[in-house]
Amino acid sequence: MTQSKTSIRKKDHIKLCLTDEVEYISKTNGFDKYEFEHYAVTEIDYNKINLNSKFFSKKINYPFLISCMTGGTKEAKGINEKLAIVAKELNIPIGVGSQRQALENNSFHSSYKVVRQNAGDVPIIGNIGAAQVAKSKNIIKDIRQLIAIVEADAMAVHVNPLQELLQSEGEPDFSGLLKNLELICSKIQIPVIVKEVGSGISMHAAKKLLEAGVKCIDVAGAGGTSWASVELKRNRQENSFFSEWGLPTSYCIRTVNQLRKYFYFTLVASGGINNGVDIAKALALGADLCGSARIILQEIVKNDVEGVIELIRSWFTTVKNIMYLTGCSNTKNFIGIGLIKKEELY
Ligand SMILES: Cc1cc2nc3c(=O)[nH]c(=O)nc-3n(C[C@H](O)[C@H](O)[C@H](O)COP(=O)(O)O)c2cc1C
Repeated sequence: MTQSKTSIRKKDHIKLCLTDEVEYISKTNGFDKYEFEHYAVTEIDYNKINLNSKFFSKKINYPFLISCMTGGTKEAKGINEKLAIVAKELNIPIGVGSQRQALENNSFHSSYKVVRQNAGDVPIIGNIGAAQVAKSKNIIKDIRQLIAIVEADAMAVHVNPLQELLQSEGEPDFSGLLKNLELICSKIQIPVIVKEVGSGISMHAAKKLLEAGVKCIDVAGAGGTSWASVELKRNRQENSFFSEWGLPTSYCIRTVNQLRKYFYFTLVASGGINNGVDIAKALALGADLCGSARIILQEIVKNDVEGVIELIRSWFTTVKNIMYLTGCSNTKNFIGIGLIKKEELY
């Protein structure tokens, strides 16, 4: 079977994220700038700390999701199958990668369908790019088809202007995006999520999205995978100024969180979330849940389903320890606890 340009791009992304140095070099996710306020009179019973959370209407076991990664290429099916098994075992949401390829033809529909086939009833997040949403002439029909393929509980639209700009076959034209997003939010029965892919969503951008009816913002900020770096490597070009472009994840969470005064929405922290301390700090700064992508992909390839389950469980042991030491018994009262800027400590 000959692979389309979209399929080949998806394959390149998996390969580069597994083999190459594609993270931010000088910019961090910003969580390293904060310290927890130790609470010496904690009265929390460690064994009663509760990590259960909710993702829209479904109960989940941890405030964590497997970020949207792949689909639409031969290599994706096995990866998605394993990730789905992880999601089911941990009872956490899982996203699929861009379903653009599924709109082009049905050659790789099975690489997306495999997620629901293995994930039981956990929340599944469909995925499509802003460029496709902006230019589609029949957006509602397209989105309904994508939702049906994975039996999605929520639909994510990824906004990736930097990636479109640097991709040789990119489409840096999102004109009409907000109008079509508004249409989707009013006609589709499931919640719409808007996510970045590593450059972050500012408070200003989030406000526009929430006004359009979006129910969840996944900031996918800077500090983890640099998609500029991935695309430059695909074009065999050197890193440039743009490899480090973007708003750190912690900045996005702290500022977008301020919009809760005006809108009811779910806030996801992702972009360089690579350990339990990052998760705990993201929740403390205001995120409802966290997500990770590349580190999970690397772990599933290296250590299979068991490795990823073990990794996520170990992260949440760290979160639990931090909750005990800061006097929080559940994730709800953990959100918004005091974090100290490191420079204030000395
Ligand atoms: C191999 C790979 C493929 C990805 N493909 C998509 C995609 O199709 N759609 C999307 O919204 N995000 C995609 N992402 C971006 C992630 O969802 C995430 O926002 C980004 O990588 C930052 O998180 P990280 O630092 O944990 O990797 C992809 C990430 C990886 C590693």
